[in-house]
Amino acid sequence: MPVQPDPARPSLFTWEFAADPYPAYAWLREHEPVHRTTLPSGVEAWLVTRYADARQALADSRLSKNPVHHSTHAHRTGRVGIPGERQANLMTHLLNIDPPDHTRLRRLVSKAFTPRRVAAFEPRVQQLTDRLIDGFAARGSADLIHEFAFPLPIYAICDLLGVPAEDQDDFRDWAGMMIRHGGGQRGGVGRAVKRMRSYLAELIHRKRADLGDDLISGLIRASDHGEHLTENEAAAMAFILLFAGFETTVNLIGNGTYALLRNPGQRELLQDSIARGETGLLETGIEELLRYDGPVELATWRFATSPLTIGGVEIPVGDPVLVVLAAADRDPARFADENTLDLARTDNPHLGFGHGIHYCIGAPLARLEGRAALATLLTRLPDLQLAESPENLRWRGGLIMRGLRELPVEFTPEN
Ligand code: HEM
Repeated sequence: MPVQPDPARPSLFTWEFAADPYPAYAWLREHEPVHRTTLPSGVEAWLVTRYADARQALADSRLSKNPVHHSTHAHRTGRVGIPGERQANLMTHLLNIDPPDHTRLRRLVSKAFTPRRVAAFEPRVQQLTDRLIDGFAARGSADLIHEFAFPLPIYAICDLLGVPAEDQDDFRDWAGMMIRHGGGQRGGVGRAVKRMRSYLAELIHRKRADLGDDLISGLIRASDHGEHLTENEAAAMAFILLFAGFETTVNLIGNGTYALLRNPGQRELLQDSIARGETGLLETGIEELLRYDGPVELATWRFATSPLTIGGVEIPVGDPVLVVLAAADRDPARFADENTLDLARTDNPHLGFGHGIHYCIGAPLARLEGRAALATLLTRLPDLQLAESPENLRWRGGLIMRGLRELPVEFTPEN
């Protein structure tokens, strides 16, 4: 009998882990569901991996989002949070603040970023999707990350915000720097963030004098009991919408397409259902792809502001807590056949968009983009298949996000 490798204490944050973190998460869920670890940046943090603990922690008001509550001064050195945000004065955004400031800002942005605005955007997303597929459909091969999953969300969010078409390629470049350097060289990300910040500040200034019907104009116009966003708050809000809505959606499209290509039976069911003009399986399918291999591996930082216990473990004041959404969403205590991709799964309260007051405000837009991207790909390129063996694919395992670096595919060229 071959000796099985000892599954005890798996190493986290290695290349192998980035390619498939799920066995390590299964081990942690079972043996050390609240696990103290040293992150690659050197910061110590608790990882919460069971579904019940994760859901509770996401909604616990004793866990603050504000990095000033970190016990060490790591946040001052920029090692906690989005690189460059401190220098670029972008700290006052939704993911860094608690009530009552969070309540005020969230209410204001919700007035502008409405489900109605997103629904009205659907034809534009479809147009963008088709235009990108037009770029490679006749070739018979493509890298779906670079040519499709990456540009779609950045052009979509730029359009929605009201960034003029001639400036959108700058955003594409800055976003590319953020993705390439994320989790690695922070200098490049810092520079990209600063450029985005000064561009957005100027755009907001210009729009204030000439309001349109885009989202930035909506943010400037939004008022709640006579309160408005300041220019700095509007810039930080536009920035976080871009930052939070970009790489996440790239990974939904990338990880989602990859999961379908690796599960031909499920992919066939979905393709048949789309061909019959049904939308039900596509809708439950997007939720299942978010659960099965979601874009956000760990929810963003939280810091204990008073002593608390998670899963029986005492968390000292000032300690960072990272809720591992990817682990919680494969918890067999909550999801039957947790490692099986079942697009028709209906009992699926996954945590892929978070939970509680910081629940993803962009979820309707992400779902819309995910549906358009997958349905159009499978319809226009019905025999789409991987052009590389899965072992050779490289994953980008940043701390927060998980996604493919490239996704080479081949198909019968469209004529
Ligand atoms: C918050 C996931 C797309 C904007 C969050 C959170 C998660 C998440 C897990 C909560 C983080 C936490 O509690 O620490 C995702 C996924 C997406 C996606 C998986 C794509 C599939 C988007 C899009 C936008 C967006 C398209 C905007 C255009 C935001 C914002 C927050 C947020 C602003 C902060 C909300 C708050 O703190 O009140 N997202 N997101 N996201 N997301 Fe998304």
